[in-house]
Amino acid sequence: MGGMTFLTSIAISSLFYLSVFVFLAGFIYRVSLYYSTPQPLKIPQTPQPVNVGGVVFRMAGDVLFFRSLSKGTTLLFFAGWIFHITLLVTGIRHLRYFLPMVPDVVVWFSHVAIFIGFVLLLSLVVLLIRRIVDKKVVFVSSLSDYFVLLLLICIVFTGLLMRYAPFRPDIVGIKGLMLELVNPVTAFSLLTLHPPHAPANYMFAIHIILVFILLIYFPFSKLMHMGGYFFSPTRYMVNNPRTKRYVNPWDKEPGNLTVSGEGGQNNG
Ligand code: HEM
Repeated sequence: MGGMTFLTSIAISSLFYLSVFVFLAGFIYRVSLYYSTPQPLKIPQTPQPVNVGGVVFRMAGDVLFFRSLSKGTTLLFFAGWIFHITLLVTGIRHLRYFLPMVPDVVVWFSHVAIFIGFVLLLSLVVLLIRRIVDKKVVFVSSLSDYFVLLLLICIVFTGLLMRYAPFRPDIVGIKGLMLELVNPVTAFSLLTLHPPHAPANYMFAIHIILVFILLIYFPFSKLMHMGGYFFSPTRYMVNNPRTKRYVNPWDKEPGNLTVSGEGGQNNG
């Protein structure tokens, strides 16, 4: 291994573990905060189903088809949905770098990969243009909204470039690298300064370093809506306050209506 590839391999391996650690620890920490946030009131966003099955169905509609976003602007709904679906397909396709045996679904998607990649890029560009030209959207946008879109555009762009000469990387070498990085047995090779070999390719280095930045930034960003959605009381609460009494979790004695400091209702 030459000096430069050795340093690249050390850098890529260390950043891989660092970013995956920050992502997982940050994600779990923030979800634990959502989980332990008190919900004193019953606040489902009506009209909301009156039983659990109905709520699960409605939430599935939100997650899979962006049902609630469809009530916003058509452009945001379409571009947002297309972005998430094509990102999901791209993610499934990337499994081939992490799984020793490539599942059939991954092979199947490779027939439409370039098309999916370009649609993903296009949807991101549309979402970015929307944040630049729509004055109302600009007014409610923060720097991080542009940052995430730009970061994703750069990741997708470098990914697409790798599909063409002269940027074609050593795919088999990359798979070897990723398999070693995620393998608990070989993971410690970094500690003995024998990191898995990273194929020398600038486009791949840029692609993966941008992915590391995305992973590290994720828990600090609005991208946490991925976990946060499932902890939103307006979404998950069942609309049954009239048939089932909702008790504020920090009321010590449910049923005791005494108002502290006023001596209680019976004394009146
Ligand atoms: C550790 C994580 C990742 C690795 C090792 C990786 C590696 C690669 C490689 C080697 C290619 C070239 C594929 C080919 O030539 O056949 C590629 C393509 C691509 N990557 Fe990544 N990538 C990673 C994460 C991501 C992420 C998070 C995104 C999106 C946000 C992304 C988006 C793309 C796209 C759109 C393409 C082109 C289309 C395709 O081949 O599916 N990648 N990636």
